[in-house]
Amino acid sequence: MRFQLKNVTRRFGNNIAVDSVNVDIPHGQMVGVIGRSGAGKSTLLRMINRLADPTSGSIHFGDSEVSGLRGKALRNWQRDCAMIFQQFNLVPRLDVLTNVMLGRLNHRSTTLSLLGIFTYEERLMAIAALERLGIEQTAMQPAGTLSGGQQQRVAIARALMQGPKMILADEPIASLDPLNAKIVMDALRDINEREGITVITNLHTLDTARHYCERIIGMAAGKVVFDGSPDELTAAAVQEIYGADKHGAGIDESMTSTSINVANLPTGETASPPASAKSMALARH
Ligand SMILES: Nc1ncnc2c1ncn2[C@@H]1O[C@H](COP(=O)(O)OP(=O)(O)OP(=O)(O)O)[C@@H](O)[C@H]1O
Ligand SMILES: [Mg+2]
Repeated sequence: MRFQLKNVTRRFGNNIAVDSVNVDIPHGQMVGVIGRSGAGKSTLLRMINRLADPTSGSIHFGDSEVSGLRGKALRNWQRDCAMIFQQFNLVPRLDVLTNVMLGRLNHRSTTLSLLGIFTYEERLMAIAALERLGIEQTAMQPAGTLSGGQQQRVAIARALMQGPKMILADEPIASLDPLNAKIVMDALRDINEREGITVITNLHTLDTARHYCERIIGMAAGKVVFDGSPDELTAAAVQEIYGADKHGAGIDESMTSTSINVANLPTGETASPPASAKSMALARH
């Protein structure tokens, strides 16, 4: 389903964080949002998920106006567009499997969720999601004991449990080393390609956006100043997005790069699970 932002503006006092943004995204695109710190990238994503509301303008998904949803319809929307954060937002003392199953919260009754009662099907789903991300062996560990890269994969597994139509990721790899960054971006791309789920991700490195995203939206001071394919993102466009520094010097693209060639890194951990991981996880829950 088509996703649209129509003239969306968000003010904080006199500060315009997002300024008259118009974007039209067909279902299944992989979109990268880039721009300097303070350009409005996070505010834009938060409005899509309705963690923040536009001051004016409207947001649409298919025939429904997302920006007007209330109550149950709003909760359903927040289930349909899963959010992934730089800092993972897991419950550190809960085991990984439970963290992943928490992705089902909006699918079930609050009482059952509060009691921590999950069905056999939900456990199987959670394990399958962990297996897909190559971390099923961590199922019984407290989430807080995992490495950053593993935690972000748990967050992606939790997002998958929501059965989302769209995944929003706010700098999902900003706290990760290059290898883990590649594993996480590969996972997002795989979900985009195999499930056809739209992915919109804020990224602070241009080379990552170029490598993974078919469409790049460049923001500067709240406005969309570029919207096109990586090929169309010329040096002049990069200059407009990131601007000149205070000495008037132009930006060099390497300044926003990870300095490691993502194409040359090994592929993600796809080791098959230890035979006991699944049975253990099922037995313990
Ligand atoms: N809750 C808030 N209250 C006041 N101002 C805010 C709030 N959230 C964001 N802003 C302001 O809105 C502008 C855009 O912020 P935003 O966090 O969206 O930028 P960003 O592009 O995500 O930056 P970064 O790359 O540093 O994450 C900034 O000037 C910021 O100070
Ligand atoms: Mg941000």
